[in-house]
Amino acid sequence: MILDAAASVLRLFPAETAHLATIRLARSFAPLIPAAPPDDSRLGIRVLGRDFPNPIGLAAGFDKNAEVPVAMLGFGFGFVECGTVTPRPQAGNPRPRLFRLSEDRAVINRMGFNNDGMEVVAQRFAARRRNGICGINIGANKASLDRIEDYRLALARLAPLADYVAVNVSSPNTPGLRGLQDRDELARLLEVLREARAQLQTSVPLLLKIAPDLDGRALDDIPDVALAAGIEGLIVSNTTITRPPSLKSRNAAEAGGLSGVPLFEPSTRILREMRARIGAKLVLIGVGGVASGADAYAKIRAGASLVQLYSALAFQGPGLVQRIKQELLGCLVRDGFASVSEAIGK
Ligand SMILES: Cc1cc2nc3c(=O)[nH]c(=O)nc-3n(C[C@H](O)[C@H](O)[C@H](O)COP(=O)(O)O)c2cc1C
Repeated sequence: MILDAAASVLRLFPAETAHLATIRLARSFAPLIPAAPPDDSRLGIRVLGRDFPNPIGLAAGFDKNAEVPVAMLGFGFGFVECGTVTPRPQAGNPRPRLFRLSEDRAVINRMGFNNDGMEVVAQRFAARRRNGICGINIGANKASLDRIEDYRLALARLAPLADYVAVNVSSPNTPGLRGLQDRDELARLLEVLREARAQLQTSVPLLLKIAPDLDGRALDDIPDVALAAGIEGLIVSNTTITRPPSLKSRNAAEAGGLSGVPLFEPSTRILREMRARIGAKLVLIGVGGVASGADAYAKIRAGASLVQLYSALAFQGPGLVQRIKQELLGCLVRDGFASVSEAIGK
């Protein structure tokens, strides 16, 4: 496919330059790209009060500013998550801050929530053609004196425009942010957000996005607090600050969050742990290292209703989405499942 060829050319450029060019290309040429064919009905799933045509979503961080959600849906994603968006615009960390680890099929980023801020993003997001499911991922500004208030502000502005809201407390690139995963802080944050949602008189689903680097105590606390707070789901997981000894690339020692193939195993393990603690009471979205239909299927069998990916796109190009869906369907048929829903947690 010509777009996959374009993606190979872009890989010759520094990672962030290639990413910005991809967004520009998607924005300019979206109307010319033929939309992906309709999905096989066995890939469809009803969850979070929405009918997803397929369970494969684009993870947060690719389209931070909601510039190309409709173009990305056109590549065949079942849903797209924009963001992370903070209340005020911010530049993020100095460049370079995005690194390919090609030999490891991985990426390290320390972007630091660079984004246009909720006002600009809200206007852009509101103007999109509503032809698919789009979530929005919210966070706090680096210099914020009251991080919980930042989440409340972003929720109030963006939730009315979105199919769901992802509450990102797991980026490793905003110092101290992951502290919001601690029991008391998390309970306070989710209470404030639930109250803010009630005031908006909407039932937009809230999902908490967590890190893969959790100790035994956090593994117990997070599901407890999430269940008590009455949110709808967890996104498992964000990037990892650990570095598996197997990494070969020279960029492996860069600071930031690691994503891609080496994240598959740890993020799937945490997903399985969450499923064991929560059962089917909350919706789980599995993300981390998905690069094939078999990977997506493994996330679903570990307990995910929906799956997301980002890093594999950088290596395989947008044709990956159709391939993953075909392979996933093959896995379901092979194992005698009539639908995605039947395979969740099995
Ligand atoms: C360059 C880059 C930027 C990211 N930015 C965000 C972000 O703003 N918010 C967020 O919740 N996750 C962000 N992520 C994490 C992804 O959403 C995802 O959780 C992670 O990359 C694991 O999936 P993958 O292995 O398929 O890439 C980012 C990842 C990358 C590679």
